[in-house]
Parts: sequence; structure tokens; C-alpha cells
Amino acid sequence: MNLAPSLLSADFANLRADAQSVESLADRFHWDVMDGHFVPNLTFGPPIVNALRPHLAKPFDIHLMIDRPAVYIPRFRVNSDDTLIFHIEASDPPKTSIEAIRDVGCRVGITARPGTSWDAIEPYLDRVSYVLVMSVEPGFGGQSFLPDALDRIRDLRCRIGEREIEIAVDGGIGPQNSRDIVEAGADTLVAGSAIFGAPDRLAAMREIREAAAASD
Ligand code: DX5
Ligand code: ZN
Repeated sequence: MNLAPSLLSADFANLRADAQSVESLADRFHWDVMDGHFVPNLTFGPPIVNALRPHLAKPFDIHLMIDRPAVYIPRFRVNSDDTLIFHIEASDPPKTSIEAIRDVGCRVGITARPGTSWDAIEPYLDRVSYVLVMSVEPGFGGQSFLPDALDRIRDLRCRIGEREIEIAVDGGIGPQNSRDIVEAGADTLVAGSAIFGAPDRLAAMREIREAAAASD
């Protein structure tokens, strides 16, 4: 299981130091890009993510909660093992966003709001390396995990079949549910407030991993 701290819950005045403080136990970093339109919140965009890229060794997964992903994707300066993730509900045609991500030279990721059927993303599964299962409504950190997400992970696993696609899960994740999520079929857990809101971040990360690996 991979653990991806979400920088949405970091101290924005100390983004670099906060990211580095968890890097030793992080497999990937999760960046929540919001445009105040696709979701009712604004965060950061390409200038900030690009500025941090040289200071961190672990791959970036960039979750684009924006209405026009194809316009902004070319502005990211990313590595081949980073991922740009667009929402199927965004305005740009999925094919256009997929081509734009391929052109910047990183992995293609796709995601959907909790209420969107997987039927909408299924036609694109042959062209993506990563699917992000939203276990909260996108827009804010610190929300509660939506239990329906477990069935959605299992359903997605079946639809993916033999394809090599990473399944990541995002929202409301902590030691209380990490095991159920991994058992349902997740490869990667994204966690923001459970890590950055903890008094000891590395201890919190160990706790999420140990809970996920625990057996009865
Ligand atoms: C929500 C974001 C999440 C968020 C998760 O829109 O996509 O990545 O950071 O935060 P927690 O772990 O606090 O639910
Ligand atoms: Zn996210």
C-alpha cells in the first residue's frame, strides 16, 4: 500500500518544510488544485506546484479540481512518474485532457465525484494509469469518509480487470478505515488532515500503515 500525504492540510506558509517533514514515509505527494469554480474553494496552481517540484524527490499526484484542465495541464513542469488527474465532469472533453497530459510527459489519471457512475470513466480505462476514487465531495479537507466508497472501489477493481491501473482513494482516510479501504482493493491512500493535523505526523503515518496491514 502507498501512502500519499495531501498538502491541502499543510501550512501554506511552510509548504516546502511541511512536505519535507513527511517525505521519509511518503510514497507520493498529493496536490489539490482548485479553481473556485469546479469546486467552491481556491488553492494553488502550476506556479506553486512547479516551484516545489525540484525540492522533493517523491512523485507528485496532481488532482485537478478545475473546470478547464486542458488549458492548465501544459503549464505543469512534471516528471514522468508524476500523475496529472482530471475530473470526468470537467468541461474539456476527456480525450483532449488525456492528450494534453501525454504531451507534458507524465502519467494520466482520471477521477470522478462520489455521485458519478463509473460508466462515465470506463471508456477511458485503456488510456489511464491511475484512477482516483473520491471518498468525499471534492473541495475541502477534513470531511468524513463516505462508506459507499468501499463498494465503488470493488466495482472499479472489477471493471479494471487485468489492466495495470493504480487505484487511489481520497478523503476522510485515517487509521480507523485504512484497512477496509485496502481490503476493498485500493493501492494508494491519500490522507491530509489525519497526517498534518496530528501532533506527530510520522507517527500518524505509521499508524495508518500498521492499521492497513493488521490482521484479525
Ligand atoms: C478534497 C481533496 C483531498 C483532501 C483530503 O477535495 O481532494 O485530497 O486533501 O483531505 P482529508 O484527508 O483531510 O479528508
Ligand atoms: Zn485530492
